[in-house]
Amino acid sequence: MPRRFLVTAGLPYSNGRLHVGHVAGAYLPADIFARFQRARGNEVCFVCGSDDHGVASLMKAREEGVPVEELVGRYNRLQEEDFGGLGIEFDIYGGTHRPEFLETHTRFSQSMFRRVHDNGYFVKRTTKQLYDVEADQFLPDRYVEGTCPKCGNEDAHGDQCDNCGSTYDQIELENPRSTITGTTPELRETTHWHLSLDRFQEPLREWLETKREPHGDQPAWRPTVLNFVLGQIKGGLPERAMTRDLHWGIPVPLEDPDAEGKVMYVWFDAPIGYISFTAELMKRQGNEADYERWWKSEDSEIVHFIGEDNTVFHALVFPAMLMAEGTYQLPSQVVSNSYLNINFGGEEQKISKSRGNAVWVGEYLQDFDPDPLRYYLTAVAPETSRTAFDLADFVQRNNSELLGALGNFVNRVLTFTRRFFDGVVPPVGTRDEADAAQIAAIARAQTAIAENLDAHRYKAALGELMALSREANVYFNEKEPWALRKTDPEAAGTVLNVCVQTVWSLAVLMSPFLPFSAARIRTMLERPEGDWVWDSATEELPAGSPIGEPVLLFRQYELESEDDSAE
Ligand code: MF3
Ligand code: ZN
Repeated sequence: MPRRFLVTAGLPYSNGRLHVGHVAGAYLPADIFARFQRARGNEVCFVCGSDDHGVASLMKAREEGVPVEELVGRYNRLQEEDFGGLGIEFDIYGGTHRPEFLETHTRFSQSMFRRVHDNGYFVKRTTKQLYDVEADQFLPDRYVEGTCPKCGNEDAHGDQCDNCGSTYDQIELENPRSTITGTTPELRETTHWHLSLDRFQEPLREWLETKREPHGDQPAWRPTVLNFVLGQIKGGLPERAMTRDLHWGIPVPLEDPDAEGKVMYVWFDAPIGYISFTAELMKRQGNEADYERWWKSEDSEIVHFIGEDNTVFHALVFPAMLMAEGTYQLPSQVVSNSYLNINFGGEEQKISKSRGNAVWVGEYLQDFDPDPLRYYLTAVAPETSRTAFDLADFVQRNNSELLGALGNFVNRVLTFTRRFFDGVVPPVGTRDEADAAQIAAIARAQTAIAENLDAHRYKAALGELMALSREANVYFNEKEPWALRKTDPEAAGTVLNVCVQTVWSLAVLMSPFLPFSAARIRTMLERPEGDWVWDSATEELPAGSPIGEPVLLFRQYELESEDDSAE
């Protein structure tokens, strides 16, 4: 029975381009997983799109003097382009304010809000908040600065201080000022709907405890994720306001006059995007109601890929929303990755736009191919702890591992076969122990890669792929077919047969990680195009199959020398 996976990757805020940190943290492992499960014959729906209602987008639009719809629309398209260039292939890329998705997204978000409300899980509370009289609006935390109540830092943000790290309520800030108008805001009363997370502490804890061990077909969740969220539950889950006084977001759908002019908190509507984008895709395929097959049916496995700063929302808040709503399934898996830092100017730094240290996907793709980045970001994936992108390391690994081990093996084998065996796969002949061992290595690698990918160990899975390519090089070198060809041409044919089988299997097994290179090998081997089939890695190419013109899979890269970059 094929399994059914609904795969999501955290919706990026549509207020900037994507850098390598975003890719390593969520999108690339999600894409590898989706490709792998598809190749295994499982049904996969891979959903993403932009998170358009963030306050930062609103601020940026104001700074640029453009309507916020225009700004988020622009970045939605640019991000989709970045993903496409890296071969990250979603079944649907939506946007919570993307025009073609807005009606469906609004409908799903409002329905969820209403049901949570009607089921009694919101508490309506009136509190005081900072109000900018000149701008005629309440101020979200990001729009306020002032003096930190704890350490006296005069440039503290609305809800946290970068100097001492403390967090507080915006009304505790001393000498607050609005970043919109620079004026001093006043305190005004406002009413908001708070999700009673406290009422879900026990159900969430019980549910999360079942994730410590493998369950059904699912592997255990990463301990980093579980320990973090169970720790939060232990400390007590606070109520959280799910509405805002803003003109940007999904309108709160209540008859209540207090709800007028209010929108949902961006973290309320954003995860619903996963569902509404799925529904939009189903609608395009003919029947919107089919989204239920993915979201409400028990035999569908929902797998979220996210960066670690999203963990609370995916493992606590969104599941609590779904429990409160009452008709949805909970996620099967939350794959949360740590941060990718960057080595820059001799030190390890957090990737940041303002520091100018980011490697942007769009810029990368102007000079380099997508697969080497996919390779490197998987090899240094921040799966359990922070790791760092290092340009020199990227270049070195491209040259020695991708080009040196993998690319050269493929190239040597195909060139040799064309030159000395009429460009067709030679007969199997009689396989000796070493030949048989190399064939057996293929099946072993296939199993090991699959086990690791099923368990979300991407780095280890890639390690097994590279181990197979190293074994293949050793086999080729030890057999010395260039010498054997003269003394025992039939035995040399057997060696090249084994090598071509290995090249084909490498293509199949690399296809989730390095899809562009896998496709090139398939073309060289003149295999039919189409979906990759994982099991075909161990199906041998018949003798006599043609071998096409070899093309290089990888290029040698060079580090720009100090002199060049100084010019
Ligand atoms: N936009 C958020 C971020 O970049 C992620 C939203 S994920 C979703 O951190 F589930 F809410 F959609
Ligand atoms: Zn402080």
